[in-house]
Amino acid sequence: MSKLTTAFGAPVVDNQNSMTAGPRGPLLSQDVWLFEKLANLNREIIPERRMHAKGSGAFGTFTVTNDITKYTRAKLFSAVGKKTEMFARFTTVAGERGAADAERDIRGFALKFYTEEGNWDLVGNNTPVFFLRDPRKFPDLNKAVKRDPRTNLRSATNNWDFWTSLPEALHQVTIVMSDRGIPASYRHMHGFGSHTYSFVSADHERFWVKFHFRTQQGIKNLTDAEAAALVGSDRESHQRDLFDAIERQDFPKWTLSIQVMPEADAEKVPYHPFDLTKVWPKKDYPLIEVGVVELNKNAENFFADVEQSAFAPNNLVPGISVSPDKMLQARLFAYSDAQRYRLGVNHHQIPVNAARCPVHSNHRDGAMRVDGNYGGTPHYEPNSFGHWQEQPGYREPPLKINGNGDFWNFREDDADYYQQPGDLFRLMTPAQQQVLFENTARAMGDAPDFIKQRHIDNCTKADPAYGAGVARALKQPG
Ligand code: HEM
Repeated sequence: MSKLTTAFGAPVVDNQNSMTAGPRGPLLSQDVWLFEKLANLNREIIPERRMHAKGSGAFGTFTVTNDITKYTRAKLFSAVGKKTEMFARFTTVAGERGAADAERDIRGFALKFYTEEGNWDLVGNNTPVFFLRDPRKFPDLNKAVKRDPRTNLRSATNNWDFWTSLPEALHQVTIVMSDRGIPASYRHMHGFGSHTYSFVSADHERFWVKFHFRTQQGIKNLTDAEAAALVGSDRESHQRDLFDAIERQDFPKWTLSIQVMPEADAEKVPYHPFDLTKVWPKKDYPLIEVGVVELNKNAENFFADVEQSAFAPNNLVPGISVSPDKMLQARLFAYSDAQRYRLGVNHHQIPVNAARCPVHSNHRDGAMRVDGNYGGTPHYEPNSFGHWQEQPGYREPPLKINGNGDFWNFREDDADYYQQPGDLFRLMTPAQQQVLFENTARAMGDAPDFIKQRHIDNCTKADPAYGAGVARALKQPG
């Protein structure tokens, strides 16, 4: 039971009838509750995320199962058995906030760990690689996969014209068109940090690291036909699956493993270790188990926690850091910038985003500051009163960088975009290869023949059988 009040606590007398001059007369502007309701309605919507707009989230726990303290000083990994509270959000990428879940698309896999030295956000996907190697093309990717400016329809032409013009996209395209391109649910997919990150140990040693989250529910996927039938009856199949599983206490779990590369190896391996379109072979850098992610609590309110959640790759903690991957470097700017626009400058105070350790950043003021704003504490630094002391003990080892500043053309300098997609193709069973051909043909739809041919040519460079299979499915000469 609760009594209805205005936003400022005054009792609402009548919530059924507007106040009018006589039973047939016009409204009276002293009906302040009516105007408050209308004004609030106009402001209920906030901008959706530019990509990854449709998503589902839940709270959970991360538990360490294996000692990796020789690689990182990060407190969340400091002892076997240690638990850290977390929040996760899974998404489709291209669809808007109301899009159907069971679409062929990559899935976002964003995790927020509330550690005692600040929040660590690992904002990954369900694929170990990405379409791009250079962030300059990211806004174009978004334009190519979203709606056409004239028809307002998704466009196979735009999509495939772009992808096939960028040879580095083939690896990711092959994964998205494979039998794994439509996960049956968020619980039934793996997650990846995708980029190369770094660890810094207590001994001040740097390691390059990749993060892998393997589903304990097993991989399950949908075919195009199954997905089409499902979307016809349930547009929210992923949201429903995750929410219901947690409600019935069937808590989904993922095993976190890492690949670790000693810092000096980066100059020796035959591939570019910071190239987001490549994986590191597991035979060179085997998976090392670290712990378990378990999601065990639904949000009480979707908007408050899931819609307002803000994940940013720049939310790092001591012992976990970045690499020279230029895609990652651009993401260090893009997310918090988007969130300052989407949620406001003080979005770090929204409970789902707030760190669960003491926070003393001397940013002040701004819209919706609700935490007391550090009262009368002087806010300049240096000051003579011991406030806002920097923490040099957390400095990372220096990073060696060399080379001339230029617009380096990696497509010429470092041009093998076909070996790894070819390896992936050759790993598939003949049945999986056939599914890949047919999914590709359906997805290319009414794209013009010259674009189809360009894709066939790219696939042929990865493996002649890949090109021939796609050509057959597209009924193109090959
Ligand atoms: C969401 C930018 C590449 C995973 C977003 C958002 C932006 C963005 C602006 C919306 C943030 C918000 O409003 O809260 C970029 C840029 C990229 C890039 C500029 C490349 C230069 C990637 C890559 C991955 C990724 C490579 C995965 C490895 C995600 C995920 C979300 C997201 C999972 C949704 C986070 C959530 O659930 O709130 N991206 N992105 N993005 N991005 Fe990226």
